[in-house]
Amino acid sequence: MEMILLGLPGVGKGTQAKKLEAALNIPHIATGDIFREAIKNGTPLGKKAESFIEAGELVPDEVTIGIVKDRLGKSDCKNGFILDGFPRTIKQAEALESILSEQNKKLNLAIYLTAEKEILIERLSGRRICEDCGATYHIKYDPPVKEDICDECGGNLIQRSDDRKETVEKRIEVNKEKTLKLVEFYSKKGILKEVQSTGGIDNVHQRLLKLIEANN
Ligand code: AP5
Ligand code: MG
Ligand code: ZN
Repeated sequence: MEMILLGLPGVGKGTQAKKLEAALNIPHIATGDIFREAIKNGTPLGKKAESFIEAGELVPDEVTIGIVKDRLGKSDCKNGFILDGFPRTIKQAEALESILSEQNKKLNLAIYLTAEKEILIERLSGRRICEDCGATYHIKYDPPVKEDICDECGGNLIQRSDDRKETVEKRIEVNKEKTLKLVEFYSKKGILKEVQSTGGIDNVHQRLLKLIEANN
């Protein structure tokens, strides 16, 4: 199963992709996670991406496409993958098509997760991530057992630097139109499915599993 999760910041792409990775046993690949790891480690990629991410802008296509091409060439992708946060532009969507066609593959499913803007803002402002392993929590909807401590590794929970109020609004604006263009792109290809991403994390997960089963 080769699939992508589309949707605005805070809609639940990462949360759902992580659960699908466990349920389907295919890797969850998130360009945002790759960038954050590179920034943490001070690599050349991190240096290129940091100013864009801090400003809530997209990292240039030339940088992003190369990373995804390398990642999809790894052996753990042979039975499929869940892409989260890529593609975000039509240029990236076209690049993904050619990367996959070189491997004699094509996308099976483009899932468009939706929720209202007020919900996105509430989710992003209450999100906390583990500074060591990157696990995601929400202070109200998905709290850790011990306040501010990661359940998985004991690391400290912090707010993502681009989850400050000013940057949150900017990210939603930057992505709105581009997301709709991608929705149109994948609708025309007949592989787009829209799923409402509200009503609790587990309910959304069940909706996604049903959809994937029906399209497999
Ligand atoms: P990225 O990390 O992908 O950020 P994003 O798209 O802004 O999306 P988020 O990670 O903020 O939201 P999400 O949908 O994953 O929500 P989550 O599951 O965490 O990208 C960061 C930056 O990197 C970009 O701004 C850009 O600069 C750059 N970048 C990345 N990819 C790029 C690309 N392809 N091209 C160019 N630049 C790129 O959920 C949010 C919160 O809500 C969590 O706290 C969660 O617990 C909670 N929650 C989730 N679902 C529910 C639910 N059903 N009910 C209640 N709470 C919920
Ligand atoms: Mg995410
Ligand atoms: Zn952790």
